[in-house]
Amino acid sequence: MDSPTRMFLFMLACMAILFNYNAATKVGLNYGLLGDNLPAPPEVINLYKSLNIANIRIFDTNTDVLNAFRGNRDIGVIVGVKNQDLAALATSEDAVNTWFVTNIEPYLADVNITFITVGNEIIPGEIGFHVLAVMKSLTNLVKSRSLPILISTTVAMINLGQSYPPSAGDFTPEARAQLVPVLKFLSQTNTPILVNIYPYFAYTADPVNIRLDYATLDTDAVVVQDGPLSYSNMFDVIFDAFVWAMEKEGLKDLPMVVGETGWPSAGNGNLTTPKIASIYNGNFVKHVESGKGTPKRPNNSIHGFLFATFNENQKPAGTEQNFGLYYPTDMKPVYKLF
Ligand SMILES: *[C@@H]1O[C@H](CO)[C@@H](O)[C@H](O)[C@H]1NC(C)=O
Ligand SMILES: *[C@@H]1O[C@H](CO)[C@@H](O)[C@H](O)[C@H]1NC(C)=O
Ligand SMILES: *[C@@H]1O[C@H](CO)[C@@H](O)[C@H](O)[C@H]1NC(C)=O
Repeated sequence: MDSPTRMFLFMLACMAILFNYNAATKVGLNYGLLGDNLPAPPEVINLYKSLNIANIRIFDTNTDVLNAFRGNRDIGVIVGVKNQDLAALATSEDAVNTWFVTNIEPYLADVNITFITVGNEIIPGEIGFHVLAVMKSLTNLVKSRSLPILISTTVAMINLGQSYPPSAGDFTPEARAQLVPVLKFLSQTNTPILVNIYPYFAYTADPVNIRLDYATLDTDAVVVQDGPLSYSNMFDVIFDAFVWAMEKEGLKDLPMVVGETGWPSAGNGNLTTPKIASIYNGNFVKHVESGKGTPKRPNNSIHGFLFATFNENQKPAGTEQNFGLYYPTDMKPVYKLF
């Protein structure tokens, strides 16, 4: 063989290795169900498999969805306790045991349930006071049965009082009352808190003064200098504001998972186009896949879930219906992402 041929064959072999390497997509997807035109769950799971998605989050314990996940143990599934169930479940461990036997037990053998989130964006608030008790009961239950399921909750940025610059990050008094005890409990077992981070909302509050490329993770230029830490994107700024707020409560190392992030592709004029949504979500995927952390936690790669798989027509009209990566009726992508 002459050397160009040898080189060519060598390159072919490398490509074969690259393409056969069946790497799971690191980013996870939220699978919301607030639509009356969504595909059947088995079709959705085939979509996830074709995309090599390894982590899915649903918001409750929907039986059709969980039944469809049976036998697909390579996909981790986060399920949730519904907000409206929390008050009743907080009354006793027995109530929580019954909930578990009904909603989780039937799937344990063949669905890979990774997390149970206790409530969604319910802290702070009247129901938020029930989160800790339910988390404690569920934690006792999974521990007593040695189940590899993590118990956590999902919170929004409303818990931050100061959030800019990141080092000024702190919690509101309401968050200090409700969230901090939850975070302290999570830190005892080193379980991540799920935090929803939407640069979209911060950007659209002030699109004249905030750079779009900074909001969409689309520049390497330093836009915010915070002491020794340099930031080129708003996602990292928000993430680290939460990290600083936790640190001020003595919670330095509690892991954070991004429960939701995303950008709508329609509903708010030229700020919500498929192009901008694809730039934000594409750059988020790259951020996750780079394995790099944020300036404050440079050595902790980001784990997170895009919101959401489908446009959901039963959410409030406007941008809320347009966070999907796929159209529900034909399962075609709204824009190219994967
Ligand atoms: C369950 O999902 C998690 C998260 O994706 C993964 O790390 C683990 O390997 C999965 N379990 C099995 C049995 O495949
Ligand atoms: C949206 O349109 C306004 C008014 O024409 C313009 O000033 C602004 O730069 C546009 N924003 C984007 C993100 O295209
Ligand atoms: C990250 O890892 C590097 C290399 O191990 C280390 O020097 C640095 O102190 C670490 N940074 C933080 C914030 O932990």
